[in-house]
Amino acid sequence: MYKEKLSNLQEGYTFDDVLLIPGRSSVEPRDAVVETMFSRKIRIKLPIVSSPMDTVSEYSMAIAMARFGGIGVIHRNMTVNSQIQMVQKVKREESLRIKNVHTVAPDTPLEEVRRIMKEKNIAGLPVTSDDRLVGIITKRDLEFLGRDKKSVKEVMTEDVVFADENVDIDEAKNILFQNRIEKLPLVDKNGRVVGLITSKDIRTRQKFPEATRDSDGQLLVAAAVGPFDLERAINLEKAGADAIVVDTAHAHNTNVQESLKKMRASVDIQIVAGNIATGQAAEDLISIGVDGLRVGIGPGSICTTRIIAGVGFPQLSAISEVADVASGHGIPVVADGGIRFSGDIVKALAAGASSVMLGSLLAGTEESPGSELILNGRKYKSYRGMGSLGAISRGISDRYGKIAENKFVAEGVEGAVPYRGRVEDVLFQLIGGVKSGMGYVGASNLEELGRNGRFIKISVAGLKESHPHDIRITSEPPNYQLFQI
Ligand code: XMP
Repeated sequence: MYKEKLSNLQEGYTFDDVLLIPGRSSVEPRDAVVETMFSRKIRIKLPIVSSPMDTVSEYSMAIAMARFGGIGVIHRNMTVNSQIQMVQKVKREESLRIKNVHTVAPDTPLEEVRRIMKEKNIAGLPVTSDDRLVGIITKRDLEFLGRDKKSVKEVMTEDVVFADENVDIDEAKNILFQNRIEKLPLVDKNGRVVGLITSKDIRTRQKFPEATRDSDGQLLVAAAVGPFDLERAINLEKAGADAIVVDTAHAHNTNVQESLKKMRASVDIQIVAGNIATGQAAEDLISIGVDGLRVGIGPGSICTTRIIAGVGFPQLSAISEVADVASGHGIPVVADGGIRFSGDIVKALAAGASSVMLGSLLAGTEESPGSELILNGRKYKSYRGMGSLGAISRGISDRYGKIAENKFVAEGVEGAVPYRGRVEDVLFQLIGGVKSGMGYVGASNLEELGRNGRFIKISVAGLKESHPHDIRITSEPPNYQLFQI
């Protein structure tokens, strides 16, 4: 019986074990389309997701990821309130139709108006009386005022330009332009202020045409929750998160699954659950009604799970096992961990993933929350596993390693990765590599890459041949150098 266990073992592959075979192609890389699904209902413009780690994804990362077409998952190693505030910051960063409009009354003292403008960082407020629009007051109205002016009605513009609540964006743009105004209040048929469109938001929208936004023009954002933290999940939904990522090292655990059932019954937003590595785990989670699966047991650059627990599944095989089941149910797969080069992303997508989740490659960017440090004259940013002692001691302890009260077995390390500039530039290089791969394979979109991409197994010699060799490199292009440690 024991001998049998070791005979005819399944082989598992990861990124460096294989290459994609070039195929007949009429696809020019620049024409390749990289749109994909993050979850059942969330479409993203590029297949990259930032990992919910406390040295990777807070609101700045989530804003950058959504602006350039991906999505960020805000980590959970903080209080529910802090996480809610971060979600709200992302949601409020851009908006086409502001729905909860701050208004003031004609009798509001000007001091109060100044306070609101400063506190909420807004430059103009509609003035309402009995909910009806009677004027507008802007920062400009408050400049160079005599001391005799005390309340809103003495300085507001009474002749307000406004539009119907259902005005379309192009028409709103015309009205703003023709009247040389910055803010357009929207009113319902009873004259009540129900929204606001600003020219600043329209300009921002034009600046980031590839951004992933909701129907109100707000950036999409996901947030992580612990497997048993129902309350956090409910609060994140209330705060406006578009998806929750149920964040556990082992989602194929029956207690986690019981809890997931409760979450499914309690929130309507998208639920992405993980991590898993097998088809059976995929079946079980899909039957609970999750909208996306996160795959990866131990491939991450900071992970020690495979060494400490002896458990894992080579990442490329894990992706394909899960994707085989998930694709039959229309559930997207997020390949999480172990990505070091853009070529790894192409392989993950060809193995059935709909998107990849990155920790290490994004931890070194300007937008990550990690602290900067200089080592041997080179700039680095700190990066650590969420199962590292540093992360666990800051609070998160239900993902890895809690063996008894205040006793932990770490499953991750702490360190630093080279500073890599802005998220925008890293994504540009990564997506450039993905599109190049699609050109070689002959895939004009990611669905074709998943369907047509074929692998060949390589040897150690093949891997050596794949990297630059037999040369003293004097100039590394950014897309190779970027990812060297
Ligand atoms: P990369 O390779 O992108 O991987 O740095 C990021 C992913 O690694 C996972 N993760 C961990 N896994 N111990 C682990 O075994 C840890 O401490 C740990 N922290 C993060 C996680 O899935 C992340 O997205």
